[in-house]
Amino acid sequence: MTQSRVAPASGEARTQVGIVGAGPAGLVLAKLLSRAGVDAVVLESRSRAYVEQRVRAGVLEAPTVELLREAGVADRLDREGMPHQGISLRFAEDTAAPQTDHRIDFADLVGRGIVVYGQQEVVKDLIADRVDGSGGGGALEFEVSDVAVHDIATDAPSITYTAADGSPRTLRCDVVAGCDGFHGVCRDAFPEGTRRIAERIYPFGWLGVLARAAPTQDELVYSNHDRGFALYSMRSPEVTRLYLQVPADCNAGDWSPARIWDELDTRLACEGFTMNTGEFLEEPSVTGMRSMVAEPMRHRRLFLAGDAAHIVPPTGAKGMNLAIADVRVLAEALASFFSSGSETGLDEYSPTCLRRVWRAEHFSWWMTSMMHRFDDSDPNGDAFGRALQLSQLRYTATSRAAATSLAENYVGLRHGSV
Ligand code: APR
Ligand code: PHB
Repeated sequence: MTQSRVAPASGEARTQVGIVGAGPAGLVLAKLLSRAGVDAVVLESRSRAYVEQRVRAGVLEAPTVELLREAGVADRLDREGMPHQGISLRFAEDTAAPQTDHRIDFADLVGRGIVVYGQQEVVKDLIADRVDGSGGGGALEFEVSDVAVHDIATDAPSITYTAADGSPRTLRCDVVAGCDGFHGVCRDAFPEGTRRIAERIYPFGWLGVLARAAPTQDELVYSNHDRGFALYSMRSPEVTRLYLQVPADCNAGDWSPARIWDELDTRLACEGFTMNTGEFLEEPSVTGMRSMVAEPMRHRRLFLAGDAAHIVPPTGAKGMNLAIADVRVLAEALASFFSSGSETGLDEYSPTCLRRVWRAEHFSWWMTSMMHRFDDSDPNGDAFGRALQLSQLRYTATSRAAATSLAENYVGLRHGSV
């Protein structure tokens, strides 16, 4: 358990925590460990430019913002992030009626809000803090390949990989943190029969566009339209982020900019609502939607965190927040393990995280069920399902108790309260 630095020139190095993946989970974990005096090395398969530009969701729940502030990596977030005190649900009472907005007022209902700040901005801030040394620095290697984890059932696991310069490396550590996302290798390093996967795949995806267009609304709009779901979001005073529900097998290339703007216009229509259009800042792309939980999140000295362990559909904006909530628990457990040798926190890691994970899974599934069209393939439509959806929307929009439940989940349950 001695603390040491990776020696980049040699083939073998040692650290306390070997972290696979430099997404929000791996980078926040590295930052929290560094503040606790625990040595870590982060290994990332992509380049720095790639991970800094990868566009993902952009909603930070209140506990995430608090954690980033406490960790000392929120200066730019506090300057450039857009605090929001609510969202709107947009829907028509019946097909003949026009769509109207029903605002869920977070500040009034739960006294807290969210901050809109792109995931890749969080990633950029954390990488700058680690690599450029403003936060004390730490090892972070990009463009590694052939990552494999070994001996996770022993007290001396290791990670083998090929460094960016093509040389083979071995990183010996006390603990491996699998923060390598949904497509990573760590989840599958669990021995046969030691974990189970619960999964649901939805028959639709989201076509996402990022446009150079000033937002015309101050807050996000979730619209349940007869033609399918649409989301109006933003990234800055100059950039709008928009999504359309599309069939899961849809080809983004079939959607011309004109068709996308037309469809957004139709699905987001509401009295008084206008939308600025503008050039797309990246190619529109389709993201599939699934819910997945791998349990437990630990096998001996291997700990999974973030998308490596669980996936939520993006409707509740929970992906990055859940990843950061996991590593908050993991960092505390590891700090206590390395300072006192106590394994209590390590033993509680998986059950503690899974309580929050399942709450977020439920919320994301519920938002998804309430907002999307499910009956595309049925020419008669699913009249019962549609009526239930409308009833749930009306109830959420008009009952303070129902709206409070949405608000409490959306802004994020307090650390340790689930
Ligand atoms: N070796 C090293 N790195 C890997 C490997 C591997 N074999 N496989 C994947 N990675 C890297 C990916 O390139 C990525 O940068 O692991 C990182 C995982 O990051 P994310 O996918 O962002 O996952 P996570 O950190 O759990 O964040 C979860 O935040 O990024 C948002 O919306 C996203 O919901 C997601 C959430
Ligand atoms: C986004 O701005 O990208 C975003 C916002 C809310 C969501 C999902 C994505 O639920």
